[in-house]
Amino acid sequence: MPQGILHTPNETVFHLKKPPRTMSMKTKQYFAFIFSFCILVYLLLYFYVLPSEVLVDEQYGRDLDENLLNQKKGLEESVITQECSLVTENCYVVVDRKVETELGQMVERHMFVKGFEDESDTIVRLIPQGDRTFEFSDTRMWKIDHLSIRAQYIAALISAPFIVSALSLVDSDNDGKAILEIGLGGGSLDMFLHSLNPKLNITAVELDPTVVSMAQKWFNVVNDGTRRTIIADGLEFVKRAERSQEKYDVVFLDACDSSKSIPCPSKLFRMPEMYSSFSSIVKTTGALVVNILSQEEDGPEVDQVCLSKLIPHLSNLQIIEDLSQHFGSCLKVSITDEVNVIAICTKQAITDSTSNTDFLRRRANAVTMRLGLQDVLKTIKMN
Ligand SMILES: *[C@@H]1O[C@H](CO)[C@@H](O)[C@H](O)[C@H]1NC(C)=O
Repeated sequence: MPQGILHTPNETVFHLKKPPRTMSMKTKQYFAFIFSFCILVYLLLYFYVLPSEVLVDEQYGRDLDENLLNQKKGLEESVITQECSLVTENCYVVVDRKVETELGQMVERHMFVKGFEDESDTIVRLIPQGDRTFEFSDTRMWKIDHLSIRAQYIAALISAPFIVSALSLVDSDNDGKAILEIGLGGGSLDMFLHSLNPKLNITAVELDPTVVSMAQKWFNVVNDGTRRTIIADGLEFVKRAERSQEKYDVVFLDACDSSKSIPCPSKLFRMPEMYSSFSSIVKTTGALVVNILSQEEDGPEVDQVCLSKLIPHLSNLQIIEDLSQHFGSCLKVSITDEVNVIAICTKQAITDSTSNTDFLRRRANAVTMRLGLQDVLKTIKMN
């Protein structure tokens, strides 16, 4: 017979009886044990785990724990965080580095893929906090200076739409202009533009949610009324934009894969139908700006013609040539310190007459001066 039915009224009364008000000795000992155990765990975490991984500095202007500072003494950099992506299987590392500049000591924040320590995806400069130095502060609390660009190729990407007048050097002329960025990284490109003119309408598309969360947490990439990050496949996004006839003033393509020979733009984007989709989402007065990173040398023309029949052999020039098939013109911009090449493609043809080339060169200088990028982008070559 099921036991549940056999409750007598007496038993019910017994169950409802209030527990005794005083704890038994055993219970007290039990709680005392749990309490001291928690304290111990806390202390262990505080003195052992925390200092070895992160440096704690709750407030500026407060004296820091000597022990913590001793750990930082003599170091050139401190690792801020490391996270692995489930989507791309890349592990991303964020470090703060001390740099000596003509303005004195500065701190720069880098993000790179683990294993590619020499190739930072993003470099930003932090705003110094009074006279606090790298050694005597927890730089995680410092703010990002979005208007200080450290990577030459980012400076060139930013300058590109201004050089071909897809963006104006008169700020108010750019209000409401639509910018699409495929590939967020640390967001230094679009946060520069957003800081320069918050009325630009910026959409950044990034495949990897880990990159997005790191960019928001450590590179102060914001979502607001005029700037948003969308987690999506850039390829799909562009195709959808084409179907719904969206048009952008500027499209930046800065998406890379882990290929050794040509990491950027990612192979998936280097297809004629993608170039055509890009072309259809760019306004008549707009521009497509592409970051190209290719280890292949621009070999002699004959070589390329022969090889292209056998194996896919692409050089910077070939990519730009392919892009030009879908646009009026593409300009190639080279920089001095990095191997990246920037392609600027416009719907309207840009004549390559000497006078026009001279004009573009002068325009490029005016642009870098106006944007405050002349120090990082000393000379750019255009042809
Ligand atoms: C900004 O762009 C978004 C997405 O393309 C669009 O929905 C919105 O209407 C635009 N806003 C303005 C003010 O143009």
